[in-house]
Amino acid sequence: MSSRITKAVIPVAGLGTRFLPATKAMPKEMLPVVDKPAIQYVVEEAVAAGLTDVLMITGRNKNALENHFDRVGELEATLERKGDTEKLEKVNYSTDLADVHYVRQGDPKGLGHAVLRAAMHVGREPFAVLLGDDIIDSRDVLLSRMIEVQGKKHASVIALLEVEPEAAQLYGIATVEATAEADVVRITGLVEKPAPGTQLSNFAIIGRYVLQPDVFDVLEKTEPGKGGEIQLTDALQVLASQNIAGGVYGVVFRGRRYDTGDRLDYLKAVVRLAADREDLGPPLLDWLREWLPTR
Ligand code: G1P
Repeated sequence: MSSRITKAVIPVAGLGTRFLPATKAMPKEMLPVVDKPAIQYVVEEAVAAGLTDVLMITGRNKNALENHFDRVGELEATLERKGDTEKLEKVNYSTDLADVHYVRQGDPKGLGHAVLRAAMHVGREPFAVLLGDDIIDSRDVLLSRMIEVQGKKHASVIALLEVEPEAAQLYGIATVEATAEADVVRITGLVEKPAPGTQLSNFAIIGRYVLQPDVFDVLEKTEPGKGGEIQLTDALQVLASQNIAGGVYGVVFRGRRYDTGDRLDYLKAVVRLAADREDLGPPLLDWLREWLPTR
């Protein structure tokens, strides 16, 4: 039932100004998280949930992303000549991972505008949206659960995380009603980045969505909102409040999520993911234990 969802849309047109000067000539999605670019984690997550048709909504300066998911003949030939199959596999892995397509956003008019650029490629079927700033630990289940809920409810589904009240202003915030399933809620309202102290709940949208194609019709008519941008949250608020195409449900995520959009959180993500690695974890933790008391 849910297996018919095959398409993932990944908006990557953002300028990454929080990471300047690192992002002056390089997309923020290419920043390494341990030894893989952040974007590869996101594509791997989509593929693990069965979504092998990936559409990236790109902008200027994003050529490195296309190159990363393409062949690189010279490097492959050199590694082959040297017989370095381990590295060759790493190089080929990202090339063969998914069928990646690209469309440019053009004007940077917001996340809703970026998602609308996917309308032609997606057609009239449910599809997923994954935001590159969020990495979901591959050991925890989120996207496949969302696809399952979408298949059951025939509705749009968003991922929710409970956040501290002070953080609510950084997210789309959802008001919810319980359902018979503990990890699933029905969305009754959504507000993009509420002013401090005005949030109506602590359920924040994290960057995973499984949407009915009807969202495109609503986005066509969505006026610029917060920050003068066309907000996906505003279009979802219309789907939820008018119960369009089944309304909107939320899957409450309680697993490990890493935010790579902010410098401090990015550093934490690198350390946490490296600490869990078999090759790097033990020596890194030994060193941290020795070094921290000297600080
Ligand atoms: C976007 C969405 C917001 C959501 C967030 C999750 O905001 O507009 O609703 O909570 O992603 O990361 P951004 O972080 O791109 O400003």
